[in-house]
Amino acid sequence: MHNINIEIPENGLYSIAGVSGCGKSTIIKLLTKEIDGYTGHIKIGGKDLSDISCSSLFHIFSLVSHNSYIFKGSVKYNMLLAKSNASDEELIDVLKKVRLWDFLKCMNGIDTEIAEQGSNLSGGQRQRLALARALLSDTMVYIFDEATSNIDVESETAINKIISELAKEKIVILVSHRVTNIGQWRPCTVAS
Ligand SMILES: Nc1ncnc2c1ncn2[C@@H]1O[C@H](COP(=O)(O)OP(=O)(O)OP(=O)(O)O)[C@@H](O)[C@H]1O
Ligand SMILES: [Mg+2]
Repeated sequence: MHNINIEIPENGLYSIAGVSGCGKSTIIKLLTKEIDGYTGHIKIGGKDLSDISCSSLFHIFSLVSHNSYIFKGSVKYNMLLAKSNASDEELIDVLKKVRLWDFLKCMNGIDTEIAEQGSNLSGGQRQRLALARALLSDTMVYIFDEATSNIDVESETAINKIISELAKEKIVILVSHRVTNIGQWRPCTVAS
């Protein structure tokens, strides 16, 4: 990719859209320091990304992707990684929001054990758990990279509503190759 310029000036909903393979996730990986080797500048709040430590970035970005990592351990353990002092009620509330609670309450609730990489959950359940975890964290920027690709339309509508609410107080970046997903979102200014 060459001559990419993106500016995200304030809280709100922003979208990065484009065909598969065009480099959307690469932009996110650069932003979150998962990869480097670029020329030019990436700045957050005026500060160059190279001067921001990875641990500080953890408090700036919440990233939910189609393959967000789910850890072996309980649902509660996975969620407390985002907010260590969250109460059980808070965890259940957010699990209801992402429509995962109906499934979990039939298992062992927030103590339901999750296998390595969430292999005992469906793809959509893993995405919802990753979403719930992100919603609990209190970061400045939320990035959803094809985060609802395995979720049924009804739940996706509910989740998009939650994301829209979130964007009143945060910077929310939605990455998608499905244009229907981003119709109501405000595009990032991208020049290439
Ligand atoms: N780790 C990697 N090493 C080398 N090339 C890569 C790597 N990851 C991605 N690419 C290449 O970079 C290009 C952009 O990939 P990227 O994942 O950013 O696409 P995308 O726009 O997010 O696509 P999709 O909509 O399918 O997720 C692709 O052509 C891909 O082959
Ligand atoms: Mg991608």
